Amino acid sequence: MSALSVKKAIFPVGGLGTRFLPATKSMPKEMLPVVDKPLIQYAVEEAAEAGIEEFIFVTGRGKSAIEDHFDHSMELEQTLQSRDKKEALKLVQSMMREPGSVAYIRQQEPKGLGHAVWCARHLIGDEPVAILLADDLILPKKGQKGCLAEMVEAWSKTGGNMVASMSVAPEQTASYGIITPGENAEGMAGPLTEVKGLVEKPKPEDAPSTLAVVGRYIIESGVFAELDKQDSGAGGEIQITDSLARRIGHVPFHSLNFSGTRYDCGSKIGFLEANIAFALARDDLSSDLTQWLKDLNV
Ligand code: UTP
Repeated sequence: MSALSVKKAIFPVGGLGTRFLPATKSMPKEMLPVVDKPLIQYAVEEAAEAGIEEFIFVTGRGKSAIEDHFDHSMELEQTLQSRDKKEALKLVQSMMREPGSVAYIRQQEPKGLGHAVWCARHLIGDEPVAILLADDLILPKKGQKGCLAEMVEAWSKTGGNMVASMSVAPEQTASYGIITPGENAEGMAGPLTEVKGLVEKPKPEDAPSTLAVVGRYIIESGVFAELDKQDSGAGGEIQITDSLARRIGHVPFHSLNFSGTRYDCGSKIGFLEANIAFALARDDLSSDLTQWLKDLNV
């Protein structure tokens, strides 16, 4: 395998989703549908578009609906077949990945995103790996590729570590990993910025900038060596940003201001906005929805 290709992705889905209770009491947050598709399926499709071939889910207790979603449903498929519902059958079968390309690891306790990623270490070895947080849903700009595909293209020229980034309002820094930006990297695909520092959830008065990390990463194996130390950070959780920050100066580190729009589907308002935005982007729904929004007249 070429040193500069990313073929594996980790989908951390072990969180409790407490901001979305009661919906997430017995259902994984990542199974919440935006229009008619669960969040996790958007993330898997974005990864596949970016050339990912191995899909590693870090799950927790009560997350078996995710495994079932990406497996055959024999009864459903037989029923669709017998009723000659060809389109629906094609749809449910098209989600199936190549046998052996999907793995599930249990995170026994939700000790943070860094801990979830670390739980997948034996399946990654020394290879670079992408990480996608399904609750950060990104609608690609019309005619553009998805966020991870943009990152993989940029990363093939930089190597090292890379995060997706966007500007946030100054009062929101305490909800994000915040970047100390260096130079804009010339000649790279998309607006790449060198990452000189990274701090998790700083108060606005302590934030080095308003450039925030969103849930897409490409990491090299040195990050796993840092995660091995199991140091906890903000909120008492093992944070991926802390391990990434410790790799600064050892390997290149860039952020990519991706071209799409990100919706925080871990929050209620972000989830509602995503449903409207994704429906408006669909030919089968946009005109009816636009009309309804006009009629609302709010
Ligand atoms: P969040 O910060 O959104 O946490 O995690 P959460 O537990 O899912 O949700 P709230 O804040 O309680 O509402 C970001 C991503 O990291 C995963 C989550 O599943 C989500 O995709 N995660 C978080 C884990 O896999 N394990 C953890 O221990 C924590």
